[in-house]
Order: sequence, then structure tokens, then C-alpha cells
Amino acid sequence: MHLLDTLTQGLNDIDAHGLRRRRRTLDTPCAAHMTVDGRAIIGFASNDYLGLAAHPELIAAVAEGAQRYGAGSGGSHLLGGHSRAHAQLEEDLAAFAGGFSDAPRALYFSTGYMANLATVTALAGRGTTLFSDSLNHASLIDGARLSRADVQIYPHADADALSAMLDASDAAMKMIVTDTVFSMDGDIAPLAALVALAEKHGAWLVVDDAHGFGVLGPQGRGALAHEALRSPHLVMVGTLGKAAGVSGAFVVAHETVIEWLVQRARPYIFTTAAAPAVAHAVSASLRIIGGDEGDTRRAHLHTLIERTRATLNETCWLPVDSHTAVQPLIIGANETTLEVAAGLDRAGLWVPAIRPPTVPAGTSRLRISLSAAHSHADIDQLETALKTLSGCAA
Ligand SMILES: Cc1ncc(COP(=O)(O)O)c(C=O)c1O
Repeated sequence: MHLLDTLTQGLNDIDAHGLRRRRRTLDTPCAAHMTVDGRAIIGFASNDYLGLAAHPELIAAVAEGAQRYGAGSGGSHLLGGHSRAHAQLEEDLAAFAGGFSDAPRALYFSTGYMANLATVTALAGRGTTLFSDSLNHASLIDGARLSRADVQIYPHADADALSAMLDASDAAMKMIVTDTVFSMDGDIAPLAALVALAEKHGAWLVVDDAHGFGVLGPQGRGALAHEALRSPHLVMVGTLGKAAGVSGAFVVAHETVIEWLVQRARPYIFTTAAAPAVAHAVSASLRIIGGDEGDTRRAHLHTLIERTRATLNETCWLPVDSHTAVQPLIIGANETTLEVAAGLDRAGLWVPAIRPPTVPAGTSRLRISLSAAHSHADIDQLETALKTLSGCAA
């Protein structure tokens, strides 16, 4: 039993540091108002930024896709699992998100984690130096480790520091890797400066737009479109389980890059394709995101973002300067963060406490995630609860 004892000791340590993570069970669809573990609650925990996860048209599209293509794909993309729904979605994604490239092509993945592993490991390897923002998502970090590239971490969003590191590097192959919108901070990478550096140094620039796609840019085309950036050095990853409300992810890049991923990316090749019905629903989601309804939802979301920013500034905790749907409130200690989250929970509000290793030690925080599905009345409740718990409101 020594093996189990070791794990039990490890779990006790996790508890002792206030780091135990617990799952909560949704009895109803992901939405602003949900039943969770049998209790009615207002959710500020999801990444369903446009409120599409329970959209009737997407639910109908999943059903239609299942009728047309069946329940499962039956195989990997290269061995019989690639359906017409996947092929159509890839065309739709290239047209929608590929404006930064002269010859865009898209590749659909079942998760963003896999898309990041695939992209980084297929384009970087021994002999590559990979420059990674210090606050990048775990999937980019894991991709960098798996690639066996030499990894250099640059200070968060610091293009000047990165420039100096690139100048000092004599690597034959270089890759810069960054989140666009940082998942636990909500701030945006200095993308224009990164594109300029990638071009100057002949480096790939892999951007993970998990939290920008659908929310930022004209028609929600993402962070690159938001800044009208174009470059053959760019490789964009976007996820489809957040603003798009369904699941999966995609890589868009020059067609040659995508063909290389099809041939070489192990996390693409050696896994079963996502259910075609899911891909079919994502195509329906793209039509909503890019249409008038998407514009209306984004406009409402941005109103809520600016309102929430003002509220967070009135608490005694530290808001992050974020203009995106991710609005963190840094509290510091793990236990205090858990206590505040518990207080919000008692008030009927689900705001997750984010602790290490997801964020650096001493920066535990509430991650308030806003959605177009929230009403102003929902934000009123959040505001009242935060002011009461904060105890030092204006
Ligand atoms: C920045 C970022 N990249 C990638 C992912 C992984 O995407 P997925 O959930 O589709 O695996 C996430 C979150 O899950 C994320 O926040």
C-alpha cells in the first residue's frame, strides 16, 4: 500500500496549502442562470463569452449533425474519421479567421490543448529556440516541453525584453509563442510588436487566441483581425469551446503549414476525430458569431465589461487592467481567496478561486468571467456581494 500512502500524503499537502480543487456538477446547461449541485446559481465561471452554449440553433445543429453523420467519427482523421462536416468546418474557419494569411487553410482539432501541443511540437524541435511569454497557457508550456526545443521564457508581455533575447540568440530556428488574451489575467499581448519581431528575426509567431476568438475584432474574427495584423510568420490557434459555445479548436495558417501539421503533428494524427455533429454545430456557431446577432451579443458583453471594471476598482482588492471578458480580482493568499469565493457562493454567485499552479504563488484571485448571457441585474448582484465582502468599498 506504499503507493497509495504516497498519494494520500500528497493530497494532504494539497489540502494543507488550500489548493484542493473541487468539481461542481451542472444539472442544467451552461448559462448565466444554472442549477449546480441542485442549487440555483448565477455563473461567472464559464468561458461561454457570447452565451451560445445553450443557444437553440446550436442545440438543433448538434441534433441535425448527429442525424446526418451519426454519433461518432469512428476513426482518426487520416484513417477514416474525417467527415464532410469536418471538411466544411475547416473551409468555414479558414474563410472566417484566416485574413492574416495570403493562402489560409484551417485544421480542426477536438480540443485546444491538443491544437497547441500539435502546433508547437510540429513546428519546433531540437535546434529551435522557443521564446515563451511567462504567463502562457499550460498547453503551450506543455507543447514547448514536449517539442525538445530550447525554451526561453520572456517577462510577461514585454516586447523589449523579448527583442533583446532574440538579438542574443544564434539559433537556426526561432519560434515566439503567446496567448493573445491571457486566460487568467484578461490582458492582451503586444501583438503588433511581436509580429514585427517575428519578421525581423525570421521566427514563427504562434498565437493562442482561445479567449479572443469570437469576442475581439470585426465580426469576432479574433485578436489578429482586431489589430488588422497580417504576416506569413503567423500561426493562429483558436478554441471553439469558449465564445463559440461548442467544443474543439482550430489552427489557421498558410496552407503549407497546415499540410505539415497533417503530416507531422502527432496530437493530430494519433487520436480519434471529434464527433462530426460537433463540427456541424461549430459551423452554425460561426454563422451566429459573424452575423448581426454576434454583433449584438458582443456589444452587450463590452458594456458589461466596462461596468464590471468600474465595480472592481471600488473593492480593496487588486483588479487587473483588462478590457476583455476575463476580469480578475487579485486577492493574494489562497485561503482568503477561497473565503471570498465562498461568500459569493452564499450570495448565489459562482466565481471561481484561481490558485497556484494555475497562477503564480501569492496572486490567487477571483476570475470573474463575463458573458453576453448576463443581464445588468446579474452584475448588480455581483456588485452588491463584492462590495459587502470587500468591506472597504467606497
Ligand atoms: C489560453 C488557452 N489555450 C488553450 C486552452 C485549451 O483549450 P481547450 O479547452 O479547448 O482544450 C485554454 C483553456 O482551456 C486556454 O485558456
